[in-house]
Amino acid sequence: MRTKITGTGGFLPKRVITNDDLAKTLDTSDEWINTRTGIRQRQLADYQGDESCSRMGLKAALRALAMANLAPSELDLIITATITPDFRLPTVSCLIQKELGAINVPAFDLAAACAGSLYALSIADGFIRSGTYKNILVIASEAMSSIVNWQDRNTAVLFGDGASAAVVSANSISDSGFMDIDLYADGRLKDIICIPDGGSFSPIDTDKPRRDKIIMNGRETYKFAVRAVCEAVEKIIHDNQIDLRDIKFAVPHQANLRIIEAIAHRLDLPTDRFLINLDRCANTSAVSLLLAYDEANRKHLFKPGDLILLLAIGAGFVWGAGLYRV
Ligand code: ACO
Repeated sequence: MRTKITGTGGFLPKRVITNDDLAKTLDTSDEWINTRTGIRQRQLADYQGDESCSRMGLKAALRALAMANLAPSELDLIITATITPDFRLPTVSCLIQKELGAINVPAFDLAAACAGSLYALSIADGFIRSGTYKNILVIASEAMSSIVNWQDRNTAVLFGDGASAAVVSANSISDSGFMDIDLYADGRLKDIICIPDGGSFSPIDTDKPRRDKIIMNGRETYKFAVRAVCEAVEKIIHDNQIDLRDIKFAVPHQANLRIIEAIAHRLDLPTDRFLINLDRCANTSAVSLLLAYDEANRKHLFKPGDLILLLAIGAGFVWGAGLYRV
């Protein structure tokens, strides 16, 4: 039994903010942002205008369901990867389940930062391989602009909003599907990217300065991301007896072009095999991997039999690698 991607969808908000737009309010420039990160613009949600986390996720989910030609009532499970839910309660998955009319379908959210969609795909793969479920909707949706400090040039330039989704279904008639997904975490690195206040450990207190937006040590993130992702790829390639040259496309989490280029260089995998969208939509956290996959899928870049490498890393740190046969 394999877990096959039968439909994908993506959504980006209408509002485009260029690097030059940011330079009007921040001490930064298009040249600095573009050369350090590869980002040229980001698309930011209008929360009052039907672009909250759940509303963006719903739009991506509807596109994935339409491509899979599956009715919401045929779903067995809904998982949404997000760190920016509409509310603390209820979950984004329950809000989307209601809008889809998929009443009684189990639904939960998953928080694994920028590795969220890979974690969610791995859980879906486990449920399908075990025979528990047949059709699972995996959604990633992030309103990153709601947790970014727009006065902090170290982080404000890096993130964007959006949503992506995949319908994954049981496939027992071909070898198309996930071959393997390896997940990792190292909580000792918890302070490298974090939001210190606003959770139960440190509720917002009006007498204290608020630290309820993302703070990040960029250098440490860069160094760890390159090493951890490369080691994950080397292991999954070795375990599955794959030659890296057989990888048709690599779909990475889109944190930063320099991280992707360093990974490509260390793995000796041509950069043009990496699907990139961060120049247009910046780092959309959990969303980015499935969004890049959906864009390529809609351009019919993937052919039957192609081997796809999935790569993700995020705050925590959490990371992983996956192998998918189209
Ligand atoms: N515009 C202009 N100058 C800036 C900006 C900006 N937007 N941001 C930082 N600087 C300044 C710094 O203040 C610093 O100035 P100083 O020397 O006067 O103190 C200078 O640029 C150099 O700062 P560094 O942090 O050393 O810059 P670096 O070359 O390392 O680039 C960057 C920073 C792009 C963040 C890099 O460290 C990086 O790519 N890190 C990875 C971070 C990342 O991708 N995070 C994504 C989220 S996590 C994830 O998705 C896994």
